[in-house]
Amino acid sequence: MKIIHISAECYPIAKVGGLADVVGALPKYQNEIGANSSVIMPFYNNKFTQAHKFTSVYEADLRLGNKELNYNILKIDGSVLDFDVFFVHVEDLLYTESVYTDNDTDRFLAFQIAALDWILTLKEKPNIIHCHDHHTGLIPFMAQESYTYESLNKIPVITTIHNAQYQGWMAYDNLYKIPSFNIENVGLIMWEDMINPLAAAIKCAWRVTTVSPSYMEELKYSANGLESLLYHENLKAVGILNGIDSEVWNPETDKYIVKNYKKSTVESGKKANKKWLCAQFNLDESKPLFAFIGRLVGEKGAELLPYAIDYALRSKDISVIVLGSGSKETEGQLLELIPKHSGNYNAFIGYDEKLSHIIYAGADFLLMPSRVEPCGLNQMYSLRYGTVPVVRRIGGLKDTVIDIGDDGFGICHNEVSVHDVLHSINRGKEFYKQQKKFKANRKHIMSIDHSWKVSARAYIELYSSIK
Ligand code: ADP
Ligand code: GLC
Repeated sequence: MKIIHISAECYPIAKVGGLADVVGALPKYQNEIGANSSVIMPFYNNKFTQAHKFTSVYEADLRLGNKELNYNILKIDGSVLDFDVFFVHVEDLLYTESVYTDNDTDRFLAFQIAALDWILTLKEKPNIIHCHDHHTGLIPFMAQESYTYESLNKIPVITTIHNAQYQGWMAYDNLYKIPSFNIENVGLIMWEDMINPLAAAIKCAWRVTTVSPSYMEELKYSANGLESLLYHENLKAVGILNGIDSEVWNPETDKYIVKNYKKSTVESGKKANKKWLCAQFNLDESKPLFAFIGRLVGEKGAELLPYAIDYALRSKDISVIVLGSGSKETEGQLLELIPKHSGNYNAFIGYDEKLSHIIYAGADFLLMPSRVEPCGLNQMYSLRYGTVPVVRRIGGLKDTVIDIGDDGFGICHNEVSVHDVLHSINRGKEFYKQQKKFKANRKHIMSIDHSWKVSARAYIELYSSIK
């Protein structure tokens, strides 16, 4: 089965969040079970593309409204990646330093058009086109409805919603940029007076998936305006829980962490990583270490952190470290707390892949007070590294973390509130004091299997079920 994933992000090439981790792992695991799975993504001007050599395998012009743009399909030289990645290179539009910019409409329109134009030229067409998020949301529409791509309209197109908060809204006057657009089809891509790529994908894809079963249910009640649409398309929608790349996220072999460890050596391994973190960030290693890693945005409940941390640190019996960036206000508040709680708290504002691995390894608890969490990968990484997740019961967090009070292994709360986060931190502290239980739990959570094996197969079964 030939599968082509189309995505804006793919680890390790370009990563903003979990989308990259998923697209960087799922094809690998699909190939392990006999598929021929590859990725098409934009060619960005970043560290990864600067560090490798690429060869053009195809060159042509694409039409974007009244503009003609030259593009290349590039492939990386040598066997650097675990699966084939094809890069769409449009020098003046896509070759930016960051994945997303303030002006993405033309960028992702051109990307989608180039991807489909190129697929049209392939001798061996894919059996499945698998699109991810709104950046590729017009592909299901174009592949089904546009005369230009008529020869592709028997290929099933799947859309996975990683995050329905972002929908890729475009003004109405961009309609003319869609190849051979027929105005009779306007209802398929509009939603509330805007071109809405995510809505178009939900309407036109053969199947729609979300990255956890609970998120699929939640979207019917809260989907940033798309609730009724998801409700209506219910029959073709299914939630498939993400997995993690258990080769990249493996404390036994992780090249980023200070000391590798496995279940039998978890205590000494975590201790060494914690020691390093505490030395680097001026924290007290004798206290339970709570961490937060993530985008500092409302979805992650990040605005609660400065208040919860400030309050929790009054009793000076925990250490806290934050790694993240996002809202300037939250960043500022988190930085202001550093001198006030010096010795027990620190924050690194920015993105640092290596540091994130060391934190998963060295922390005792990982905080995820998310308001919305379509799946969440952090809690699964933390489990694999023996770090207890402290989460709000929502989306994928609900599907992956069971509370210690319910014979589980994590700490859960219901509300997005400082009070609930503080209550969970207190429960964490109490749990930590019961060292025997706490240590046994560490070993237990390290053996919970969230690898892609099961979900990679679930996707293949979904593709195969399409008649
Ligand atoms: P989302 O995609 O909504 O941000 P996920 O939990 O799916 O959330 O994935 C987040 C990914 O990004 C994880 O791999 C996490 O470790 C990583 N990450 C988030 N913020 C940072 C940061 N500041 N530095 C390093 N890694 C980060
Ligand atoms: C999105 C979601 C996150 C999910 C990730 C990968 O960024 O916010 O919850 O884990 O996609 O699917």
